[in-house]
Amino acid sequence: FAFTPANQAWAEAQITKYPEGRQASAIIPLLWRAQEQEGWLTRPAIEAVADMLGMAYMRALEVASFYFMFQLQPVGSVANIQICGTTSCMICGAEDLVAVCKEKIAPKPHTLSADGKLTWEEVECLGACANAPMAQIGKDYYEDLTAARFAEILDELVAGEVPVPGPQNGRYAAEPK
Ligand code: FES
Repeated sequence: FAFTPANQAWAEAQITKYPEGRQASAIIPLLWRAQEQEGWLTRPAIEAVADMLGMAYMRALEVASFYFMFQLQPVGSVANIQICGTTSCMICGAEDLVAVCKEKIAPKPHTLSADGKLTWEEVECLGACANAPMAQIGKDYYEDLTAARFAEILDELVAGEVPVPGPQNGRYAAEPK
């Protein structure tokens, strides 16, 4: 693994923001940039970041494995679907969304679909509890989901379309008064 020249320059600039001896504090932005570049965090990418920061690989892995925003396995070429499974979403139907993923993507999380386009996983609360159940796809939230609408969204993604994010039940269709 090597950062692109632009990312390398960006990473070096991040490191200079921290006092001497505290370079390890830059680990999260550097891991994030490596993931953006590669799609997920390979072991060589984590090792390269650890080397840049003068850290042991294991300490960098501890950080990468703590946050579900970091992917330690390959993700779908189109999207990794993150379904919130915490209380509000669980009560409002997250299990139905998981069932759709098991049927349309793969029986187990972190597993590529047959065409390699999608992966899925269950994550903790994403802070959109009022619009449960919901899922994050890329940087967008898809809220007020039903299993039927969620299945359509997955079909649209596979077809190369970009589903409209936000509440899926028309909750904000009218302008607020
Ligand atoms: Fe699902 Fe908070 S419980 S977004």
